[in-house]
Amino acid sequence: MRSGDTTYGEFEFIVVSNRLPVDRVNDDGGNGTWRRSPGGLVTALAPVMEKADGAWVGWHGASDETLESFDHDNMRLVPVPLSADDVEFYYEGFSNATLWPLYHDVIAPPEFHRHWWDSYRKINERFADATAAIAAEGATVWVQDYQLQLVPKLLRKARPDLKIGFFNHIPFPPLEIYAQLPWRRQVIEGLLGADLIGFQRPSDASNFLRCVRRFLGLAVRQQQVQVKGEDGAHDYISRAEAFPISIDVQRIVDLANRPDIIERSREIRRELGNPKHILLGVDRLDYTKGIGHRLKAYEELLADGKVQVEDAALIQVASPSRERVEQYRLLREEIEGSVGRINGQYDTIKNTAIRYLHHSYPVEEMVALYLAADVMLVTALRDGMNLVAKEYVAARTGNRGALVLSEFAGAADTLRQAILVNPHDIDGLKAAIRTALEMSPAEATRRMRTMRRQVLQNDVERWSKAFLSELQNGTREEVLV
Ligand code: G6P
Repeated sequence: MRSGDTTYGEFEFIVVSNRLPVDRVNDDGGNGTWRRSPGGLVTALAPVMEKADGAWVGWHGASDETLESFDHDNMRLVPVPLSADDVEFYYEGFSNATLWPLYHDVIAPPEFHRHWWDSYRKINERFADATAAIAAEGATVWVQDYQLQLVPKLLRKARPDLKIGFFNHIPFPPLEIYAQLPWRRQVIEGLLGADLIGFQRPSDASNFLRCVRRFLGLAVRQQQVQVKGEDGAHDYISRAEAFPISIDVQRIVDLANRPDIIERSREIRRELGNPKHILLGVDRLDYTKGIGHRLKAYEELLADGKVQVEDAALIQVASPSRERVEQYRLLREEIEGSVGRINGQYDTIKNTAIRYLHHSYPVEEMVALYLAADVMLVTALRDGMNLVAKEYVAARTGNRGALVLSEFAGAADTLRQAILVNPHDIDGLKAAIRTALEMSPAEATRRMRTMRRQVLQNDVERWSKAFLSELQNGTREEVLV
């Protein structure tokens, strides 16, 4: 459809994210097909997309390949192509070796390269163009995460008729850290193209608004910023607020009630020799997750004789991630070195201290692991939310088990009955693990019941409805607790 100079597309609701919510797999006949991918972002948005009959714009995960749009799971998928250079400079470079470490408290040193920034700009334009081409007049577009922070402004320029939302899944850093970014003004201006900018925690939203004041000199009133429209367009209001994301709770609960998955959880315990305690860590192999701190605490507990290898086993699932980025390679070497050393020291022929699994697993196996684990360890040094913590709680249908949770994960804002830790404090972490191992069943149940109530009431559908209704109406209809 054309109106004036603008060509409108057909989709009323569009999600834009770096990755499409599907992975390519071969079916039994060896034919390529698509399967919905695991991961927080997909878990969060797929149910909403299915209901809304919308389109999803994103990269399909391979380089140097241009694909036509296609339908999957009741939504139109629109692949954005990336060349090998785009992957290296925009995805591995600027997104994951500049922004990711910068936004996670510079746990690893961010690298600043001008050719990475040029690529980031160019690819953000490509995503914005692909979206503008398919959006119906007045459509709602929801842009996701740090890889695409320039898209809101670019979209608004191309299509001022759109309602534009943005959600940042990772933390937004304090001004003093954000200030390092050579392109700090451009990124904030990019985000302010959105009518509503969502963050995980109130502190992320206030960090962002401080940066708006400082680097753009704009006035902020009650989380609202008045932004100048470009080329004589009207001024508009952009708002920044917290919308803590959640999980598809019912899916996890249903899986946790499935007899075959319950049996699988028993099998896991049996295969580990039915130890008194199973501890579990589940993370992407990422330096933000504090896996090394967790291993150090566990190693010291073994060394102190506070934990015996005959009594306890730690299962650490570390799913492969961003393997061509240098810091991730170094981390893998470090973690695998530690696991080898600890197991070499403490394993017996029969028992293992740490069962380390460098794999991704289907959600069914994850839920079986959650059911098998008495103690869940989430020791992130910085994490936007951490959905694993919420999945563990949702899966514990019997209200047993203990969650050790880093106060630096967004989930700590709401899961107050977890055993909260500062993972940098190794003695504190050791004490927290011992508290979890020694907690009375009555106390564990009391805490888990409260946390389950919290998670069950605030699932991902509630999160997306809260965000989208505020985007549409400009007011908050539902308060997330
Ligand atoms: C985090 C980010 C997501 C990202 C995911 C997996 O959860 O917030 O945007 O998709 O990690 O990382 P990857 O680089 O494999 O997409």
